Amino acid sequence: MAGGKPYYLTTPIYYVNDAPHLGHAYTTVACDALARFMRLDGRRVKFLTGTDEHGQKVEKSAQAAGIDPQAFCDRVSQNFRDMTRLMNISNDDFIRTTEPRHVRGVQALWQELQRRGEIYLGRFAGWYAVRDEAFYDEGELVAGRAPTGAEVEWVEEENYFFRLSAWQERLLKFYDENPDFIAPRARRNEVVSFVKGGLRDLSISRTSFTWGIPVPGDPRHVVYVWLDALANYITALGYPETKSGDYSTFWPADLHMVGKDIIRFHCVYWPAFLMGAGLAPPNRVFAHGWWTVEGQKMSKSLGNFIAPQHLVAQYGLDSVRYFMLRELPFGSDGDFSHRAVVNRINGDLANGLGNLAQRVLSIINRNCAARLPEPGALAAADAALLDAARGLLDRLRGDFAEQAFHRALEALWQVVGDADRYVNEQAPWVLRKSDPKRMATVLYVLAEVIRHLAILVQPVVPGAAAKLLDQLAVPADRRDFAALATPLAPGTVLPKPEGIFPRFVEAPEPA
Ligand code: MSP
Repeated sequence: MAGGKPYYLTTPIYYVNDAPHLGHAYTTVACDALARFMRLDGRRVKFLTGTDEHGQKVEKSAQAAGIDPQAFCDRVSQNFRDMTRLMNISNDDFIRTTEPRHVRGVQALWQELQRRGEIYLGRFAGWYAVRDEAFYDEGELVAGRAPTGAEVEWVEEENYFFRLSAWQERLLKFYDENPDFIAPRARRNEVVSFVKGGLRDLSISRTSFTWGIPVPGDPRHVVYVWLDALANYITALGYPETKSGDYSTFWPADLHMVGKDIIRFHCVYWPAFLMGAGLAPPNRVFAHGWWTVEGQKMSKSLGNFIAPQHLVAQYGLDSVRYFMLRELPFGSDGDFSHRAVVNRINGDLANGLGNLAQRVLSIINRNCAARLPEPGALAAADAALLDAARGLLDRLRGDFAEQAFHRALEALWQVVGDADRYVNEQAPWVLRKSDPKRMATVLYVLAEVIRHLAILVQPVVPGAAAKLLDQLAVPADRRDFAALATPLAPGTVLPKPEGIFPRFVEAPEPA
């Protein structure tokens, strides 16, 4: 497996100005499902996440907490690292922008841009929003605020500039030649029209505060936090070393997963910085939507954000992961409501896959001396169901390549529905007396279909899928997608079945 085709994907690195919440967990879980899928499909995966620790916003938060910025970053970064454990995230690396490997890489990138004539010293005068860490044109302001609603302040200072204006045509050509670079399509149109509207040179250093990476050769300036942050995707690969090591294996990235709020940074500035430094742009950026919570905008400032620990404690880890990836067409906005979560848990998980597995495994346990039965000749209905299960991998490959997690799960659950109908039609509990040989075939077919479902659902619900595979006595080295082709061995002794997806029962209202 280690020899497979490389696949590199990244989450945004999270600002350490605040605690992890549902939004961060969402991006990270989506990436984790992809990383797991690609590994199971034989790819050599590098999955990166981390924390964005410089800039005015973090400096201000540290001041508000009354501690030194580095100590503040250490503490909050650890909370994000803890979130990856809590959510069962399989990241291969965790980068912090205060690490020496990153600082070195950013300074090298700066020097390379300078060497190529992409940077000049000028005077900046304009609007800046600390919350977004972004500059805005006068014309973009809405009622005196950033289009995102963030407060802006007028900034005038000596800054270094990146010649972004010179990249307009080359960026448009790049989007044109790479139609899959930005997804979903609506986001692509948004970016293209922004670039067509004309690009101004971008201020890439600040002098009014010090919490950042010093500009090489001019330490009065610190590097603009977005240039610093975006570079994490290559500094984690060992940049400036490009000829060997991880950079040579994994760059360009297969996918940067981001929220829709930060698409401009990833689809305009980042490819321009990279091309400006003579480096290849990433292959794809996918911008997902935003969750509201019970119909309300979730915001750090409103204080109604949901902590991932709370979700996991209330619903269970795999249920939360499933809900996040099943509920919305990935890319759209949606609402995170208690009712919707409970419906998915009870409808799809407990009554769906959970019930199917429990039903079939209990019948085998009771009627076949807990051994996988030996199938006889297949009837048309058996072959049809097996074919549906065997057709899933190709279908899922297409869906995961497009980050359409909801479609992949829908396809899996169609087979859950097919299998349910098949159990009812075949009625193995009747066959037990009338035709035990036929019962053996029906139960074997069902076990084999459940094995397919369990293997293929691992990326989304790794814990529950592992339990299900244990119950089918599938050995640990037979759980990747290549092993789908190796059917269950009749006669194998199965452990006593146990439910894998408990129903969610509302706690009674206090009297
Ligand atoms: N530090 C920058 C990213 C730098 S990447 C080089 C940043 N960090 S962030 O912590 O503010 O947010 C990161 C991501 O969290 C957003 O892009 C988005 O993916 C996610 N979300 C934050 N709130 C969200 C929701 N309410 N819903 C879904 N995701 C949202 O931006």
